[in-house]
Amino acid sequence: MTVTIVGAQLGDEGKGGLVDVYSEDADAVVRYQGGDNAGHTVIHDGEEYKLSLVPSGVVRGKTGVLGNGCVVNPSTLFEEIETLRDRGLDPDVRVARRAHVIMPYHRVIDGIEEDAKSDGNLAAGTTGRGIGPTYEDKAGRRGIRIGDLLDPAVLRDRLEYVVPTKRALVEDVFGIDIENATFGAGEIDPVEAFDVDALYEEYREYGDRLGEDAMTVNAGEFLSRTLDDGGTLMLEGAQGSSLDIDHGVYPYVTSSNPTAGYAATGTGLGPAVIGQGEIVGIVKAYLSRVGTGPLPTELGFVEGQTEPDGGSDDEELATYIRDEGGEYGTVTGRPRRVGWLDMPMLRHAARASGFTGLAINHIDVLAGLDEVKVGHSYTLGGEEIETMPATTERWGECEPNYRTFDGWPDVDWSDVAATGYEAIPENARTYLEYVSDELDTPLYAVGVGPGRTDTVVLERPF
Ligand code: GDP
Ligand code: IMO
Ligand code: MG
Repeated sequence: MTVTIVGAQLGDEGKGGLVDVYSEDADAVVRYQGGDNAGHTVIHDGEEYKLSLVPSGVVRGKTGVLGNGCVVNPSTLFEEIETLRDRGLDPDVRVARRAHVIMPYHRVIDGIEEDAKSDGNLAAGTTGRGIGPTYEDKAGRRGIRIGDLLDPAVLRDRLEYVVPTKRALVEDVFGIDIENATFGAGEIDPVEAFDVDALYEEYREYGDRLGEDAMTVNAGEFLSRTLDDGGTLMLEGAQGSSLDIDHGVYPYVTSSNPTAGYAATGTGLGPAVIGQGEIVGIVKAYLSRVGTGPLPTELGFVEGQTEPDGGSDDEELATYIRDEGGEYGTVTGRPRRVGWLDMPMLRHAARASGFTGLAINHIDVLAGLDEVKVGHSYTLGGEEIETMPATTERWGECEPNYRTFDGWPDVDWSDVAATGYEAIPENARTYLEYVSDELDTPLYAVGVGPGRTDTVVLERPF
Protein backbone atom coordinates (compact mmCIF):
# COMPACT_ATOMS: atom_id res chain seq x y z
CA MET A 1 0.00 0.00 0.00
CA THR A 2 1.09 3.57 -0.62
CA VAL A 3 0.41 6.77 1.27
CA THR A 4 1.09 9.94 -0.70
CA ILE A 5 1.73 13.20 1.11
CA VAL A 6 0.91 16.35 -0.87
CA GLY A 7 1.32 19.99 0.12
CA ALA A 8 -2.07 21.65 -0.32
CA GLN A 9 -0.88 25.26 -0.60
CA LEU A 10 2.41 26.99 -1.32
CA GLY A 11 4.96 24.70 0.33
CA ASP A 12 6.22 24.58 3.92
CA GLU A 13 2.90 23.19 5.19
CA GLY A 14 4.71 20.76 7.50
CA LYS A 15 5.00 17.80 5.12
CA GLY A 16 8.29 16.61 6.62
CA GLY A 17 6.76 16.44 10.08
CA LEU A 18 3.79 14.38 8.89
CA VAL A 19 6.02 12.06 6.87
CA ASP A 20 8.02 11.55 10.04
CA VAL A 21 4.88 10.73 12.06
CA TYR A 22 3.35 8.35 9.52
CA SER A 23 6.53 6.73 8.22
CA GLU A 24 6.77 4.73 11.42
CA ASP A 25 4.58 2.25 9.53
CA ALA A 26 6.34 2.52 6.14
CA ASP A 27 9.12 0.39 4.70
CA ALA A 28 10.49 3.11 2.44
CA VAL A 29 9.92 6.82 1.90
CA VAL A 30 10.08 8.11 -1.66
CA ARG A 31 10.39 11.60 -3.12
CA TYR A 32 8.70 11.75 -6.55
CA GLN A 33 9.49 15.29 -7.74
CA GLY A 34 11.51 18.39 -7.06
CA GLY A 35 15.04 18.55 -5.78
CA ASP A 36 16.97 20.51 -3.18
CA ASN A 37 14.55 23.43 -3.52
CA ALA A 38 12.63 21.65 -0.74
CA GLY A 39 13.30 22.10 2.94
CA HIS A 40 11.52 19.54 5.10
CA THR A 41 11.82 19.70 8.86
CA VAL A 42 11.75 16.78 11.26
CA ILE A 43 12.02 17.53 14.96
CA HIS A 44 12.35 14.81 17.54
CA ASP A 45 13.89 14.64 21.00
CA GLY A 46 15.24 18.16 20.72
CA GLU A 47 17.00 17.35 17.44
CA GLU A 48 16.05 19.32 14.34
CA TYR A 49 16.73 17.88 10.89
CA LYS A 50 16.34 20.11 7.82
CA LEU A 51 16.25 17.89 4.77
CA SER A 52 16.33 19.27 1.26
CA LEU A 53 16.82 16.12 -0.76
CA VAL A 54 17.02 13.04 1.41
CA PRO A 55 13.48 11.78 2.14
CA SER A 56 12.29 12.62 5.65
CA GLY A 57 11.78 8.95 6.60
CA VAL A 58 15.54 8.37 6.91
CA VAL A 59 15.43 10.05 10.32
CA ARG A 60 13.45 6.99 11.45
CA GLY A 61 15.91 4.67 9.74
CA LYS A 62 13.67 3.98 6.74
CA THR A 63 15.10 3.51 3.25
CA GLY A 64 14.84 6.78 1.33
CA VAL A 65 14.38 6.73 -2.44
CA LEU A 66 14.70 9.63 -4.86
CA GLY A 67 12.36 8.71 -7.70
CA ASN A 68 12.85 9.29 -11.42
CA GLY A 69 10.71 12.44 -11.19
CA CYS A 70 13.31 14.15 -9.01
CA VAL A 71 16.18 16.38 -10.06
CA VAL A 72 19.28 15.60 -8.06
CA ASN A 73 22.29 17.72 -7.22
CA PRO A 74 24.82 15.03 -6.26
CA SER A 75 26.86 17.48 -4.24
CA THR A 76 23.86 18.33 -2.02
CA LEU A 77 22.97 14.66 -1.78
CA PHE A 78 26.37 13.55 -0.49
CA GLU A 79 26.67 16.56 1.81
CA GLU A 80 23.29 15.84 3.33
CA ILE A 81 24.09 12.17 3.82
CA GLU A 82 27.42 13.13 5.42
CA THR A 83 25.71 15.58 7.80
CA LEU A 84 23.22 12.92 8.86
CA ARG A 85 26.06 10.44 9.45
CA ASP A 86 27.86 13.02 11.58
CA ARG A 87 24.71 13.21 13.67
CA GLY A 88 24.72 9.48 14.29
CA LEU A 89 22.25 8.30 11.64
CA ASP A 90 23.00 5.68 9.02
CA PRO A 91 20.94 6.83 6.04
CA ASP A 92 20.09 4.26 3.38
CA VAL A 93 19.40 6.37 0.29
CA ARG A 94 18.72 5.09 -3.23
CA VAL A 95 18.51 7.21 -6.36
CA ALA A 96 16.60 6.43 -9.53
CA ARG A 97 18.86 5.96 -12.55
CA ARG A 98 16.24 7.88 -14.52
CA ALA A 99 16.35 10.94 -12.25
CA HIS A 100 17.94 14.00 -13.84
CA VAL A 101 21.13 15.62 -12.59
CA ILE A 102 21.34 19.28 -11.64
CA MET A 103 24.59 20.61 -13.12
CA PRO A 104 26.42 23.79 -12.07
CA TYR A 105 25.33 25.52 -15.29
CA HIS A 106 21.69 24.91 -14.32
CA ARG A 107 22.19 26.84 -11.13
CA VAL A 108 24.00 29.61 -12.99
CA ILE A 109 21.21 29.91 -15.56
CA ASP A 110 18.53 29.84 -12.84
CA GLY A 111 20.12 32.96 -11.33
CA ILE A 112 20.66 34.72 -14.65
CA GLU A 113 17.07 34.13 -15.80
CA GLU A 114 15.62 35.30 -12.51
CA ASP A 115 17.63 38.51 -12.82
CA ALA A 116 16.55 39.01 -16.40
CA LYS A 117 12.89 38.34 -15.56
CA SER A 118 12.79 40.67 -12.59
CA ASP A 119 12.51 43.67 -14.93
CA GLY A 120 9.25 42.36 -16.35
CA ASN A 121 7.55 41.05 -13.18
CA LEU A 122 8.11 37.43 -14.25
CA ALA A 123 10.62 36.31 -11.63
CA ALA A 124 9.23 33.56 -9.38
CA GLY A 125 11.76 34.21 -6.60
CA THR A 126 13.26 30.76 -7.17
CA THR A 127 15.48 29.02 -4.67
CA GLY A 128 18.37 29.33 -7.15
CA ARG A 129 19.04 25.59 -7.07
CA GLY A 130 18.79 25.13 -10.83
CA ILE A 131 15.45 23.32 -10.65
CA GLY A 132 13.73 24.99 -13.63
CA PRO A 133 16.71 24.78 -16.01
CA THR A 134 17.19 21.08 -15.18
CA TYR A 135 13.56 20.19 -15.88
CA GLU A 136 13.83 22.26 -19.08
CA ASP A 137 16.72 20.10 -20.24
CA LYS A 138 14.79 16.96 -19.30
CA ALA A 139 11.87 18.05 -21.50
CA GLY A 140 14.30 19.24 -24.18
CA ARG A 141 15.90 15.77 -24.28
CA ARG A 142 19.34 17.13 -23.53
CA GLY A 143 19.46 16.33 -19.82
CA ILE A 144 21.98 14.18 -17.99
CA ARG A 145 20.54 11.40 -15.89
CA ILE A 146 21.89 9.69 -12.80
CA GLY A 147 22.44 6.53 -14.85
CA ASP A 148 24.64 8.50 -17.25
CA LEU A 149 27.06 9.37 -14.44
CA LEU A 150 27.89 5.68 -14.18
CA ASP A 151 28.69 5.42 -17.87
CA PRO A 152 31.64 7.72 -18.66
CA ALA A 153 31.27 7.49 -22.44
CA VAL A 154 27.62 8.52 -22.30
CA LEU A 155 28.40 11.29 -19.82
CA ARG A 156 31.06 12.76 -22.08
CA ASP A 157 28.81 12.55 -25.13
CA ARG A 158 26.00 14.38 -23.36
CA LEU A 159 28.32 17.07 -21.99
CA GLU A 160 29.93 17.66 -25.36
CA TYR A 161 26.58 18.47 -26.86
CA VAL A 162 25.00 20.42 -24.07
CA VAL A 163 27.78 22.51 -22.51
CA PRO A 164 28.55 24.65 -25.61
CA THR A 165 24.80 25.39 -25.93
CA LYS A 166 24.71 26.63 -22.34
CA ARG A 167 27.83 28.72 -22.84
CA ALA A 168 26.30 30.28 -25.93
CA LEU A 169 23.06 31.01 -24.07
CA VAL A 170 24.88 32.79 -21.27
CA GLU A 171 27.34 34.67 -23.47
CA ASP A 172 25.35 35.42 -26.59
CA VAL A 173 21.77 35.73 -25.31
CA PHE A 174 22.40 37.18 -21.86
CA GLY A 175 25.66 38.92 -22.82
CA ILE A 176 27.62 37.72 -19.79
CA ASP A 177 31.39 37.39 -19.74
CA ILE A 178 31.58 33.96 -18.05
CA GLU A 179 35.28 34.07 -17.18
CA ASN A 180 34.82 37.26 -15.15
CA ALA A 181 31.40 36.63 -13.66
CA THR A 182 30.37 35.72 -10.11
CA PHE A 183 27.70 33.03 -9.86
CA GLY A 184 25.75 31.65 -6.90
CA ALA A 185 27.25 34.18 -4.46
CA GLY A 186 30.68 32.98 -5.50
CA GLU A 187 29.98 29.32 -4.72
CA ILE A 188 30.05 28.24 -8.34
CA ASP A 189 33.32 28.36 -10.25
CA PRO A 190 32.32 30.25 -13.42
CA VAL A 191 34.95 28.60 -15.59
CA GLU A 192 34.40 25.02 -14.43
CA ALA A 193 30.61 25.35 -14.75
CA PHE A 194 31.01 25.62 -18.52
CA ASP A 195 34.05 23.41 -19.07
CA VAL A 196 33.38 19.93 -20.47
CA ASP A 197 36.55 18.36 -19.04
CA ALA A 198 36.09 19.77 -15.55
CA LEU A 199 32.44 18.73 -15.44
CA TYR A 200 33.27 15.29 -16.81
CA GLU A 201 35.86 14.67 -14.08
CA GLU A 202 33.67 15.93 -11.25
CA TYR A 203 30.49 14.13 -12.29
CA ARG A 204 32.24 10.88 -13.21
CA GLU A 205 33.50 10.83 -9.64
CA TYR A 206 29.96 11.25 -8.36
CA GLY A 207 29.03 8.34 -10.62
CA ASP A 208 31.83 6.21 -9.12
CA ARG A 209 30.62 7.02 -5.65
CA LEU A 210 26.98 6.25 -6.46
CA GLY A 211 28.13 2.97 -8.01
CA GLU A 212 30.46 1.96 -5.17
CA ASP A 213 27.76 2.52 -2.60
CA ALA A 214 25.20 0.66 -4.80
CA MET A 215 22.94 3.66 -4.46
CA THR A 216 21.29 3.66 -7.88
CA VAL A 217 18.11 1.74 -8.60
CA ASN A 218 15.53 1.20 -11.26
CA ALA A 219 13.00 2.96 -9.05
CA GLY A 220 9.76 1.51 -10.39
CA GLU A 221 11.09 -2.04 -10.18
CA PHE A 222 12.66 -1.50 -6.76
CA LEU A 223 9.48 -0.02 -5.30
CA SER A 224 7.15 -2.57 -6.89
CA ARG A 225 9.20 -5.33 -5.31
CA THR A 226 8.62 -3.76 -1.89
CA LEU A 227 4.88 -3.67 -2.54
CA ASP A 228 4.81 -7.22 -3.96
CA ASP A 229 6.50 -8.42 -0.78
CA GLY A 230 3.65 -6.90 1.22
CA GLY A 231 5.59 -3.76 2.12
CA THR A 232 4.34 -0.21 2.45
CA LEU A 233 5.56 2.97 0.78
CA MET A 234 5.24 6.58 1.80
CA LEU A 235 5.46 8.99 -1.15
CA GLU A 236 6.69 12.38 0.01
CA GLY A 237 5.65 15.29 -2.17
CA ALA A 238 7.72 18.45 -2.07
CA GLN A 239 6.52 22.04 -2.62
CA GLY A 240 2.73 22.45 -2.80
CA SER A 241 -0.28 22.28 -5.10
CA SER A 242 -0.29 25.99 -5.93
CA LEU A 243 3.39 25.72 -6.88
CA ASP A 244 2.54 22.93 -9.35
CA ILE A 245 3.65 23.73 -12.89
CA ASP A 246 0.21 22.75 -14.27
CA HIS A 247 -2.18 23.44 -11.42
CA GLY A 248 -0.37 26.26 -9.64
CA VAL A 249 -0.12 30.00 -10.07
CA TYR A 250 1.92 29.94 -13.26
CA PRO A 251 4.53 31.38 -13.83
CA TYR A 252 5.19 31.85 -10.08
CA VAL A 253 5.55 28.10 -9.64
CA THR A 254 8.18 25.42 -9.49
CA SER A 255 8.95 23.30 -12.56
CA SER A 256 7.47 19.99 -11.44
CA ASN A 257 4.12 18.52 -10.34
CA PRO A 258 3.72 18.18 -6.58
CA THR A 259 0.08 17.04 -7.11
CA ALA A 260 -0.62 13.34 -6.62
CA GLY A 261 -0.77 12.31 -10.28
CA TYR A 262 2.96 12.73 -10.50
CA ALA A 263 3.47 10.30 -7.64
CA ALA A 264 2.89 7.62 -10.30
CA THR A 265 4.99 9.17 -13.06
CA GLY A 266 7.76 10.20 -10.71
CA THR A 267 8.22 6.75 -9.16
CA GLY A 268 7.34 4.29 -11.91
CA LEU A 269 4.40 2.89 -9.97
CA GLY A 270 1.07 2.75 -11.79
CA PRO A 271 -1.66 5.35 -11.21
CA ALA A 272 -3.95 2.61 -9.87
CA VAL A 273 -1.34 1.69 -7.26
CA ILE A 274 -1.24 5.29 -6.04
CA GLY A 275 -5.03 5.60 -6.35
CA GLN A 276 -5.71 2.51 -4.29
CA GLY A 277 -3.65 4.00 -1.50
CA GLU A 278 -4.28 7.12 0.54
CA ILE A 279 -3.50 10.69 -0.51
CA VAL A 280 -3.12 13.00 2.43
CA GLY A 281 -3.25 16.74 1.82
CA ILE A 282 -1.10 18.75 4.20
CA VAL A 283 -2.61 22.12 5.10
CA LYS A 284 -1.08 24.96 7.05
CA ALA A 285 -3.83 26.67 9.10
CA TYR A 286 -2.90 29.98 7.44
CA LEU A 287 -0.86 30.78 4.32
CA SER A 288 2.84 31.32 4.00
CA ARG A 289 4.55 32.15 0.74
CA VAL A 290 8.19 32.33 -0.24
CA GLY A 291 8.32 34.08 -3.58
CA THR A 292 6.37 36.39 -5.80
CA GLY A 293 2.94 36.48 -7.45
CA PRO A 294 -0.55 37.45 -6.28
CA LEU A 295 -1.90 36.26 -2.93
CA PRO A 296 -5.51 37.45 -2.40
CA THR A 297 -5.67 36.74 1.34
CA GLU A 298 -2.24 38.22 2.09
CA LEU A 299 -1.76 40.08 5.36
CA GLY A 300 0.75 42.92 5.45
CA PHE A 301 3.36 43.48 2.80
CA VAL A 302 6.83 42.06 2.15
CA GLU A 303 9.11 44.22 0.06
CA GLY A 304 10.28 42.51 -3.10
CA GLN A 305 7.70 39.71 -2.93
CA THR A 306 4.22 41.22 -2.45
CA GLU A 307 2.71 42.59 -5.66
CA PRO A 308 2.70 46.41 -5.81
CA ASP A 309 -1.10 46.55 -5.39
CA GLY A 310 -1.29 43.48 -3.12
CA GLY A 311 -1.07 42.89 0.61
CA SER A 312 -3.01 44.74 3.28
CA ASP A 313 -2.34 47.18 6.09
CA ASP A 314 -2.73 44.46 8.77
CA GLU A 315 1.00 44.67 9.40
CA GLU A 316 0.73 44.02 13.13
CA LEU A 317 -1.29 40.85 12.62
CA ALA A 318 1.05 39.70 9.86
CA THR A 319 4.03 40.21 12.15
CA TYR A 320 2.30 38.33 14.96
CA ILE A 321 1.60 35.28 12.78
CA ARG A 322 5.05 35.48 11.18
CA ASP A 323 6.76 35.55 14.57
CA GLU A 324 4.61 32.85 16.15
CA GLY A 325 5.04 30.60 13.12
CA GLY A 326 8.73 31.34 12.65
CA GLU A 327 7.97 32.40 9.09
CA TYR A 328 11.44 33.69 8.25
CA GLY A 329 13.72 32.24 5.58
CA THR A 330 16.03 29.61 7.03
CA VAL A 331 19.01 30.85 5.04
CA THR A 332 18.43 34.57 4.55
CA GLY A 333 16.24 35.34 7.58
CA ARG A 334 13.93 37.26 5.22
CA PRO A 335 10.31 37.53 6.34
CA ARG A 336 7.94 35.23 4.47
CA ARG A 337 4.61 36.46 3.19
CA VAL A 338 1.65 35.35 5.32
CA GLY A 339 -2.10 35.37 4.84
CA TRP A 340 -5.41 33.87 5.92
CA LEU A 341 -6.36 30.41 4.81
CA ASP A 342 -7.62 30.42 1.23
CA MET A 343 -10.45 27.91 0.70
CA PRO A 344 -10.68 28.22 -3.10
CA MET A 345 -6.99 27.28 -3.18
CA LEU A 346 -7.69 24.25 -1.01
CA ARG A 347 -10.74 23.16 -3.04
CA HIS A 348 -8.60 23.31 -6.17
CA ALA A 349 -5.82 21.30 -4.49
CA ALA A 350 -8.21 18.69 -3.09
CA ARG A 351 -9.71 18.09 -6.53
CA ALA A 352 -6.39 18.04 -8.40
CA SER A 353 -4.93 15.39 -6.08
CA GLY A 354 -8.04 13.62 -4.80
CA PHE A 355 -7.22 13.93 -1.12
CA THR A 356 -8.51 11.04 0.94
CA GLY A 357 -7.45 12.65 4.21
CA LEU A 358 -6.24 15.96 5.60
CA ALA A 359 -3.60 16.97 8.08
CA ILE A 360 -4.00 20.53 9.31
CA ASN A 361 -0.91 21.97 10.96
CA HIS A 362 0.04 25.08 12.92
CA ILE A 363 -3.25 25.64 14.76
CA ASP A 364 -1.09 26.52 17.78
CA VAL A 365 0.36 29.45 15.81
CA LEU A 366 -3.04 31.12 15.50
CA ALA A 367 -3.86 30.63 19.21
CA GLY A 368 -4.43 33.81 21.16
CA LEU A 369 -5.99 35.78 18.30
CA ASP A 370 -9.47 37.23 19.00
CA GLU A 371 -10.70 36.06 15.66
CA VAL A 372 -9.43 33.98 12.78
CA LYS A 373 -10.53 34.64 9.23
CA VAL A 374 -10.78 32.36 6.24
CA GLY A 375 -11.13 33.37 2.61
CA HIS A 376 -14.23 31.25 1.98
CA SER A 377 -14.81 32.28 -1.65
CA TYR A 378 -13.81 35.03 -4.05
CA THR A 379 -15.65 37.74 -5.87
CA LEU A 380 -14.45 38.06 -9.45
CA GLY A 381 -16.19 40.32 -11.97
CA GLY A 382 -19.17 40.72 -9.64
CA GLU A 383 -19.65 36.96 -9.27
CA GLU A 384 -18.93 34.71 -6.33
CA ILE A 385 -16.64 31.79 -7.17
CA GLU A 386 -15.48 28.95 -4.95
CA THR A 387 -12.37 27.75 -6.72
CA MET A 388 -9.28 29.32 -8.28
CA PRO A 389 -9.52 30.83 -11.75
CA ALA A 390 -7.21 29.16 -14.27
CA THR A 391 -5.09 32.22 -14.95
CA THR A 392 -2.94 33.89 -12.37
CA GLU A 393 -3.92 37.35 -13.63
CA ARG A 394 -7.61 36.62 -12.86
CA TRP A 395 -6.58 35.15 -9.51
CA GLY A 396 -4.85 38.43 -8.71
CA GLU A 397 -8.15 40.24 -9.32
CA CYS A 398 -10.08 38.03 -6.89
CA GLU A 399 -11.43 39.71 -3.77
CA PRO A 400 -11.74 37.22 -0.91
CA ASN A 401 -15.07 36.87 0.91
CA TYR A 402 -14.08 36.18 4.48
CA ARG A 403 -15.73 34.07 7.15
CA THR A 404 -14.77 34.92 10.67
CA PHE A 405 -14.22 32.33 13.39
CA ASP A 406 -13.88 33.03 17.09
CA GLY A 407 -10.28 32.66 18.20
CA TRP A 408 -8.99 29.99 20.54
CA PRO A 409 -6.77 30.29 23.58
CA ASP A 410 -3.13 29.35 23.80
CA VAL A 411 -3.01 26.16 25.84
CA ASP A 412 -0.45 23.53 26.76
CA TRP A 413 -0.25 21.96 23.31
CA SER A 414 1.89 19.02 24.46
CA ASP A 415 -0.94 18.13 26.81
CA VAL A 416 -3.42 18.45 23.97
CA ALA A 417 -1.31 16.19 21.76
CA ALA A 418 -1.04 13.61 24.53
CA THR A 419 -4.77 13.69 25.29
CA GLY A 420 -6.24 13.70 21.81
CA TYR A 421 -8.67 15.52 19.54
CA GLU A 422 -11.24 16.39 22.21
CA ALA A 423 -8.57 18.34 24.10
CA ILE A 424 -8.19 20.81 21.22
CA PRO A 425 -9.98 24.07 22.16
CA GLU A 426 -13.57 24.01 20.87
CA ASN A 427 -13.21 27.04 18.58
CA ALA A 428 -10.19 25.48 16.93
CA ARG A 429 -12.16 22.28 16.39
CA THR A 430 -14.94 24.34 14.76
CA TYR A 431 -12.31 25.79 12.41
CA LEU A 432 -10.83 22.38 11.60
CA GLU A 433 -14.24 20.83 10.99
CA TYR A 434 -15.23 23.69 8.70
CA VAL A 435 -12.17 23.00 6.50
CA SER A 436 -12.78 19.26 6.52
CA ASP A 437 -16.50 19.71 5.65
CA GLU A 438 -15.82 22.19 2.87
CA LEU A 439 -13.31 19.81 1.29
CA ASP A 440 -15.48 16.81 2.03
CA THR A 441 -12.36 15.09 3.31
CA PRO A 442 -11.83 13.56 6.74
CA LEU A 443 -9.34 14.96 9.18
CA TYR A 444 -6.46 12.54 9.72
CA ALA A 445 -4.12 14.64 11.85
CA VAL A 446 -3.76 18.03 13.52
CA GLY A 447 -0.40 19.67 14.08
CA VAL A 448 -0.21 21.54 17.36
CA GLY A 449 3.55 22.12 17.44
CA PRO A 450 6.70 21.34 15.50
CA GLY A 451 7.84 18.10 17.16
CA ARG A 452 6.99 14.47 16.40
CA THR A 453 4.84 14.21 19.50
CA ASP A 454 3.03 17.50 18.79
CA THR A 455 0.57 15.88 16.41
CA VAL A 456 -2.94 14.74 17.23
CA VAL A 457 -3.35 11.64 15.09
CA LEU A 458 -6.95 10.72 14.28
CA GLU A 459 -6.21 8.22 11.53
CA ARG A 460 -3.15 6.18 10.66
CA PRO A 461 -3.42 5.70 6.91
CA PHE A 462 -1.33 2.52 6.72
P1 GDP B 1 7.61 21.27 4.69
O1 GDP B 1 8.45 21.91 3.64
O2 GDP B 1 6.19 21.13 4.27
O3 GDP B 1 8.16 19.97 5.19
O4 GDP B 1 7.59 22.27 5.91
P2 GDP B 1 8.87 23.06 6.53
O5 GDP B 1 9.65 22.10 7.34
O6 GDP B 1 9.58 23.82 5.48
O7 GDP B 1 8.13 24.16 7.39
C1 GDP B 1 7.27 23.85 8.42
C2 GDP B 1 7.82 24.46 9.72
O8 GDP B 1 6.78 24.46 10.68
C3 GDP B 1 8.94 23.67 10.32
O9 GDP B 1 9.77 24.52 11.04
C4 GDP B 1 8.21 22.69 11.24
O10 GDP B 1 9.01 22.25 12.32
C5 GDP B 1 7.10 23.57 11.74
N1 GDP B 1 5.84 22.88 12.03
C6 GDP B 1 5.28 21.82 11.40
N2 GDP B 1 4.05 21.56 11.92
C7 GDP B 1 3.84 22.48 12.88
C8 GDP B 1 2.74 22.77 13.77
O11 GDP B 1 1.69 22.11 13.76
N3 GDP B 1 2.90 23.83 14.63
C9 GDP B 1 4.04 24.58 14.65
N4 GDP B 1 4.10 25.60 15.50
N5 GDP B 1 5.07 24.34 13.83
C10 GDP B 1 4.97 23.32 12.95
P1 IMO C 1 8.98 22.63 0.39
O1 IMO C 1 9.09 21.22 -0.16
C1 IMO C 1 8.12 26.83 -0.39
C2 IMO C 1 9.06 28.28 -4.45
C3 IMO C 1 10.14 29.31 -4.61
C4 IMO C 1 9.68 30.03 -5.85
C5 IMO C 1 9.10 28.91 -6.70
C6 IMO C 1 10.04 28.35 -7.74
O2 IMO C 1 9.93 22.90 1.50
O3 IMO C 1 7.56 22.93 0.72
P2 IMO C 1 12.20 26.79 -7.66
O4 IMO C 1 13.50 26.98 -6.96
O5 IMO C 1 11.46 25.55 -7.30
O6 IMO C 1 12.31 26.95 -9.15
O7 IMO C 1 11.30 28.06 -7.16
O8 IMO C 1 8.73 27.89 -5.78
N1 IMO C 1 9.44 27.05 -3.72
C7 IMO C 1 9.05 26.74 -2.47
N2 IMO C 1 8.36 27.45 -1.56
N3 IMO C 1 8.51 25.58 -0.10
C8 IMO C 1 9.19 24.84 -1.01
O9 IMO C 1 9.49 23.54 -0.82
C9 IMO C 1 9.53 25.44 -2.24
N4 IMO C 1 10.21 25.03 -3.33
C10 IMO C 1 10.13 26.01 -4.23
O10 IMO C 1 10.21 30.16 -3.50
O11 IMO C 1 8.62 30.93 -5.57
MG1 MG D 1 9.79 23.51 3.44
